[in-house]
Amino acid sequence: MKTGIFISGTGSNMEAVIKNFQKGSIPGVSEISFVLSDKKSAPGIEKAQKLGIHTIVLPKMKEESREEYEIRLFEAVRPFDTGLIVLAGFMKIIGSTFLSRYKGKIINIHPSLLPSFKGVDAQTQAFDYGVKISGCTVHFVDETLDGGPVILQKAVERYDSDTADDLKHRILEQEHRLLSEAVSIVAQGKYTIKGRLVLLERR
Ligand code: GAR
Repeated sequence: MKTGIFISGTGSNMEAVIKNFQKGSIPGVSEISFVLSDKKSAPGIEKAQKLGIHTIVLPKMKEESREEYEIRLFEAVRPFDTGLIVLAGFMKIIGSTFLSRYKGKIINIHPSLLPSFKGVDAQTQAFDYGVKISGCTVHFVDETLDGGPVILQKAVERYDSDTADDLKHRILEQEHRLLSEAVSIVAQGKYTIKGRLVLLERR
């Protein structure tokens, strides 16, 4: 399955997916067709270029509505005809204009055990709350904030000696593994969705 990746920043999850794909360890993915960033300054863009992936930079213009932006977004990615779009640190909320054109074909990685700690800076939210366990989630994207059906989750322990950055770093290490695994499951179609439950064929 042809796959595209959306980012906004560092792009470490994107890099992990591309490197795993290039090693041949993401069965089901035939091509990483592009990496798109909504931020001109995203360091991930240069990383993607170094890995030989086509890049697109598409910031939202101030005067543009979300709908207008999403139409441009759709026009930018449509020629690639990807069956899957992976949000890997893409920090814009995607609305129905784009979603309706890629229904069931967009997944997102989030740095908490959803439904806890939705939104931005989830790791610090969890740290400040004083949780003993946090983690990461890969889920299908729907019209709710961080609310679509869960594909995979991985728990990460918070130690008493942790700083917020320690916890963030250990969660990120797990994100890098989890995202490639989820991409492979979805690209191979090894799942069925029953209501909110994503039933996996390989587990
Ligand atoms: C990751 O921790 C990802 O889970 C998070 O942004 C970071 C991006 O890092 N995404 C969200 O918070 C989305 N709600 P990266 O650019 O190094 O992959």
